[in-house]
Amino acid sequence: MLLAGSLQPVFRGSVDASLGSPKTLESVPSRHRSRVQQQQSLSGQRFGASPGSSRGSVKMATSTTDRQATPVPVAVPADAAAQQAEPANISYTPEWQALLEHRKEIEKTHLRDLLRKEDRSDALFHEYGGIVADFSRQRVTMKTIELLTQLANKAKLQEKIAGMFEGKHLNGTEDRAVLHVALRARRDQKIVVEGKDVVPEVWEVLDKIKGFSEKVRSGEWKGATGKAIKDVVAIGIGGSFLGPLFVHTALRTDQAAAHEAGGRQLRFLANVDPVDVARALNGLSQETTMVIVVSKTFTTAETMLNARTVRTWLVSELGPESVAKHMVAVSTNLKLVKEFGIDAENAFGFWDWVGGRYSVCSAVGVLPLALQYGWPVVERFLKGANDMDEHFRTAKFEENIPVWLGLTSVWNVSFLGYAARAILPYCQALSKLAPHIQQVSMESNGKGVDLSGRRLPFESGEIDFGEPGTNGQHSFYQLIHQGRVIPCEFIGTVKSQQSVYLKGEVVSNHDELMCNFFAQADALANGKTPVELRAENVPDHLIPHKTFTGNRPSVSILMPDLTAFSVGQLLAMYEHRVAVQGFIWGINSFDQWGVELGKVLAAKVRTNMNSARTVHRRIKQSDGFNHSTTRLLNRYLDGKTQLLYPEPADVFPCDLIESDVCRPPTSYT
Ligand code: F6P
Repeated sequence: MLLAGSLQPVFRGSVDASLGSPKTLESVPSRHRSRVQQQQSLSGQRFGASPGSSRGSVKMATSTTDRQATPVPVAVPADAAAQQAEPANISYTPEWQALLEHRKEIEKTHLRDLLRKEDRSDALFHEYGGIVADFSRQRVTMKTIELLTQLANKAKLQEKIAGMFEGKHLNGTEDRAVLHVALRARRDQKIVVEGKDVVPEVWEVLDKIKGFSEKVRSGEWKGATGKAIKDVVAIGIGGSFLGPLFVHTALRTDQAAAHEAGGRQLRFLANVDPVDVARALNGLSQETTMVIVVSKTFTTAETMLNARTVRTWLVSELGPESVAKHMVAVSTNLKLVKEFGIDAENAFGFWDWVGGRYSVCSAVGVLPLALQYGWPVVERFLKGANDMDEHFRTAKFEENIPVWLGLTSVWNVSFLGYAARAILPYCQALSKLAPHIQQVSMESNGKGVDLSGRRLPFESGEIDFGEPGTNGQHSFYQLIHQGRVIPCEFIGTVKSQQSVYLKGEVVSNHDELMCNFFAQADALANGKTPVELRAENVPDHLIPHKTFTGNRPSVSILMPDLTAFSVGQLLAMYEHRVAVQGFIWGINSFDQWGVELGKVLAAKVRTNMNSARTVHRRIKQSDGFNHSTTRLLNRYLDGKTQLLYPEPADVFPCDLIESDVCRPPTSYT
């Protein structure tokens, strides 16, 4: 029997052995095993990360003890602050304590009543650059706003924002500036880091992308067989994937952007799962496909294996010379790009002051998007992001949308004890916003220690999740209406990218969608009382089931439209909100040590898996695994040895698969 999950391709001898990916014996039909064994020991796997290689692993930060879950911090003795070395943790300040006290007042309020105060609603209605952010359904009064502003001042929020734009090394553990704002700076702006204005360097890369994308799109750039490039596969993961995917998904149905795309395809390959490879390559022709390897470090295991796999797909059809015409790279590590075999001319750099999850406006996002939509569309996107940057940098706190998004999030997490946040766009084109923000927010603010490495006395960050409305309504909204309280973020547009207004219908299709946007926020805030239910003659036994407690906070963000420009604004607005939260909590929102341990352990598994296979031995606890993992690994390896060679058609076209029974590839449309 052939099992799913075993779909590992074996390539024909025509593939240059030096370009081949490291093969495991399990992926090779038994009749070829000895040949592959020989090749592996001779070739030294020039391009592949050798099994068990720890390249790219990073030294772990000093470990910290596990924290107890403390959703809402308790008041700290007055002398505790004095015992702390500078800077004191923000939660020991009188401003924090005042908010803790104030929470008791807020607990006596209900949004149903707060929303009756029109002055309050007006004061909580903010507008910038066509974007409205209505905070009136947050559990706040004007006193809360005042106290949060005092907290922001205590945390030196203004200085920290300015420091970011001035290139201060806010990322202390990596000793780096945090300058994604420079990626969308206007040509005439100056951003000086260590005595050097970085804006000209940024524009040098942008100009190179502009020239390159115009060549490819016009057909002047030819593939190995002389055909023009039509489709692009961008290989990358995490920040080298989620942001560009979000923007691409947002622009796909924008009329202006779609017109420019003109039948081109942009696909992404992130997961190291061969199923993702199959889906990304399905139906593409090597002759007309360009592959972009996107990796800040150029060491990420998943990306590099996918890059070797897709390189093999190209080379087996078009020969080794085709790499120069069909593969380009985006990275800060141009040395490794060259070692991989990609011409330096075809590499687009960026800088260590761009965090992966903040890299959409670098070549990471700009190159694939420019190839798909053309430079003018991308330029509008960058202008939108720059527009929000300027608002964030210059607007007074009381008018600053990212600041208020950040401060109300701190209020919800640290004082009201809400651990999660739902991102709910009433706009299908924003379907990849939540996955992107999951990384931007959770990788940035899910930290256990403060900037000085001291254990945080509160939980930072929140659990972000989301789905486009109205899909979410028919899925998890039950819980957010009657179960746990989860602050919600409703995002809608005045103008839809697509308009349909059927004759005879009372509202347009987009109006219908937006009716839900307005209704849900009030349903959460107001709820429904037993008195109201009785007035509707609801039988007594159903009243508890049909009661909505309400008082559930949300923010409503209404955008004028969803164009390249407003997508840029939205992206920057979310990035800055996350920074505000981190600045208040006093954490480093720009490192990500928490992702390292798993990578190191996976490398250990890889080494042992390879050695167990090659010398036909079992995994032992003395290999460094506990009893459970040893047992599980051996179960997996035993299962693998019983597999027949997998169905050849599932991953690559027949001519790439060594098999007696090859069927044409399935179409995964
Ligand atoms: O998952 C950890 C991480 O380092 C992310 O921060 C980053 O976005 C991703 O891996 C990809 O890294 P790279 O661009 O170096 O391949």
